[in-house]
Amino acid sequence: MILIVGGAGYIGSHLNKEINKKGIETVIFDNLSYGHRDFVKWGTFEKGDLGNIDDIRNVFKKYPIEAVMHFAAFTYVGESVEDPQKYYTNNVKNTLNLLQVMLEENVKYFVFSSTCATYGNPVEIPITENHPQNPINPYGKGKLMVETVLKDYSDAYGLKYASLRYFNAAGADPESEVGELHNPETHLIPLILDVAAGRREDIKIFGTDYDTPDGTCIRDYIHVTDLAEAHILALEYLQNSGESDFFNLGNGNGFSVKEVIETAEEVTGKNIKAVEAERRAGDPPILVGSSDKAKEKLNWKPKYDELSTIIETAWNWHKKLK
Ligand code: UFG
Repeated sequence: MILIVGGAGYIGSHLNKEINKKGIETVIFDNLSYGHRDFVKWGTFEKGDLGNIDDIRNVFKKYPIEAVMHFAAFTYVGESVEDPQKYYTNNVKNTLNLLQVMLEENVKYFVFSSTCATYGNPVEIPITENHPQNPINPYGKGKLMVETVLKDYSDAYGLKYASLRYFNAAGADPESEVGELHNPETHLIPLILDVAAGRREDIKIFGTDYDTPDGTCIRDYIHVTDLAEAHILALEYLQNSGESDFFNLGNGNGFSVKEVIETAEEVTGKNIKAVEAERRAGDPPILVGSSDKAKEKLNWKPKYDELSTIIETAWNWHKKLK
C-alpha cells in the first residue's frame, strides 16, 4: 500500500488516480487546508496533519504502508518571501516528522515533490540536474533543505528516495475527474481560463521587457498526468534498483506568456483580454529543464507534451467549475 501525503491536492490527486489504475492500493493523508475532499476519488482517505506526529503514527499503524509519496507543501513563492516561517514549518519541519515516522516504522521508499525553484536563477538553459542549486526564495530553499536531509538519511539510515524537481505543472486529468483548483489562484493557465470562462475580466502579463523573443517570460509546462506517471516509474525504479536519485520533470520546451495566451485563445475559441503589467518580483526570464535523465533512467515518456493538449485538458476541467 502506498501512502500519498497531500493526495487531495492538485498533483497528488492525479497521481492517486493513475496509481490506482495500475491496481496499486493507496491511503491518502491530507489535512484539507488546501486540498479538496472530493478530489479523493480513489483509495482510502485519512484526515490528518503532518504537524501532529501522532496523526502520522496512527496511519502507519493502521495500514501496511510500503512507500510514501509526499505532495503536501505550500507552493506560493511570493508568500514564502513574506511569511517564511509558514513555509519552513510546513515544508521542512513537517516533512521531517513524516520521515521520522518512516524511520520508526522501517518504511524505506520515499518519492518527494521537489521543484525547479531549487536551482534559483538559471546560469544555463536547459537546466539539468547538475545545474548549481542556489534558490532565491524560502519556498525553493526549504525544498533544497529537504533534499539535503534526504541525502544524509539515505547514507545513514538506508532511506531510498527519488526527488522529483517539477517545472510548471499544468493541465488536468484528460477524463476531467480531477483538475487544478487553487485558492487563491496565482498560476497562469487557470487564470487565463478564468478569463475565457468569463469569470475574470483580463489576464495581466507580468513583464513584457524580458530578454526573450517576445519580451515575456518563458516556462516549461508539463502535464500533470505525465508528472503522475513519472512518480509511479520513480517508485518502481527505487524498488527495483534501490538507488536514490534526483530527476527533473519538464517538457523540454519553453513557451512565453504571450504564446500561452494565444494557444488558449485557439483552444477555447474565446478572446482573452491581456493587459501589460509590471514584472512580478522573483520571476526568472526563462525556466526550461532537460528531463533526459528521467527519460533514460525511468523510461519516462510524456504523452501530453503539446501545449495545446495541456491547455485543452485544463479547459475541459475548468468549464465544469461553477
Ligand atoms: N504570469 C503572468 N500573469 C499572471 C500569472 C503568471 O504573466 O497572472 C506569468 C509569470 O510571471 C510567469 C508565468 O506566467 O512568468 C508562469 O507563472 P506561474 O505563476 O503560473 O508559475 P511560476 O513559473 O511562477 O511557478 C512555478 C510553480 C511554482 C514553482 C515555480 C518555480 O507554480 O510552484 O514555478 O519558479 F516554485
